[in-house]
Amino acid sequence: MKKNIFSDSSKIKSIFKDENIFDISYFPEEIYARDSQIKDIKHNLDPLIRKKKTQNLLICGPPGTGKTLVTKYVLNHLTGYTSNAKHTYINAIEHNTRYSVLHKISLIFDVFLPRRGLSITEVIERIKEGLSKSPFIPVVVVDEIDQIPSNDCSNLLYDLSRIVENNNYFCFILITNNKNFFLELDARTQSSLFLNNISFPRYSPKDLKDILSDRVNYGLLDDALSKDLLGYIAGFSAKRGGDARVGIDLLYKSAKLAEKQGSLTISKENVLEASKLIDVVKFSEKKKSLSDDHLLLLKKLEDSMLTSDLYNKNVFPERTVRRYLSIFEKLNIIRIEEINSGKGRSRKIFLNFEKDLL
Ligand SMILES: Nc1ncnc2c1ncn2[C@@H]1O[C@H](COP(=O)(O)OP(=O)(O)O)[C@@H](O)[C@H]1O
Ligand SMILES: [Mg+2]
Repeated sequence: MKKNIFSDSSKIKSIFKDENIFDISYFPEEIYARDSQIKDIKHNLDPLIRKKKTQNLLICGPPGTGKTLVTKYVLNHLTGYTSNAKHTYINAIEHNTRYSVLHKISLIFDVFLPRRGLSITEVIERIKEGLSKSPFIPVVVVDEIDQIPSNDCSNLLYDLSRIVENNNYFCFILITNNKNFFLELDARTQSSLFLNNISFPRYSPKDLKDILSDRVNYGLLDDALSKDLLGYIAGFSAKRGGDARVGIDLLYKSAKLAEKQGSLTISKENVLEASKLIDVVKFSEKKKSLSDDHLLLLKKLEDSMLTSDLYNKNVFPERTVRRYLSIFEKLNIIRIEEINSGKGRSRKIFLNFEKDLL
């Protein structure tokens, strides 16, 4: 037999010091740029330490801004400090019905419940019963709450607001990417919820650099990534919505491409190729919400151009173009900046994606 094709595999030196650092489940040592959100959530939960009632929370912000991470971080500290509170974390991508969420909540009380066969009213009764005997205050996190169809979601939130009776407290924390989430609920639900809002803004290039530096230091060999390329990756993820997940993903994909070439350093070509891969996926997701007319206008955009020049192309009436541009801006396909030109103030469009992708 010829030499085994794996025989060299164990000798290959890898660019990775620890590949787990790039896992979605990895919990970073340090959380950057979120001091005020951590403080606000902590402050909101403080009364629980004394077994007192507290406000419910609505945590809102674009994808990849640390909502899940920060919430878990604060709750781990809370329950590590006191047994007066206990939390359950529910991801609505997994539990996307009213029943499934209520069922999962009921499990916090260690009562046995059949997975099926109980009506919603019965599950709610069990939760109330559990709550009345509970030695702790339950904190229920429903992450990605907008994944529950709106009717089910309204009913669920209404249920939650009504479970609390007398001195039986309960605290829930809702997390969503959709900034209109609350406004889209029906009026009855809106008025029954007392939500304290905490918002997570997009990360700046500097924030992203800090976040990514840690992954580089713990995850990759020393000198695997130059400062310039780190800056490029941070800038790229800033443009793609200030999303830390995009930055970590780009870093990881670039390192994988370098590894495949047997290199111990990431090259500019690796990063560019990886960013193309990411953009193709990202852009095709965005495309799903665009019409043919939208796409037609998109094709007319340049890397950077004045809005007035676009209007002059007469693709559509100016009002329509304005409306479409605001859709593109919301989807982060473009950004529009006010600039001072010779002729006074004007607005300039910048593409967030490579032109050939559009
Ligand atoms: N401030 C931060 N410091 C370090 N890592 C972060 C920070 N914010 C986000 N991350 C990382 O970025 C990724 C996305 O964060 P996540 O909390 O899941 O975002 P969201 O829930 O807002 O979509 C995770 O891998 C997380 O560990
Ligand atoms: Mg999340």
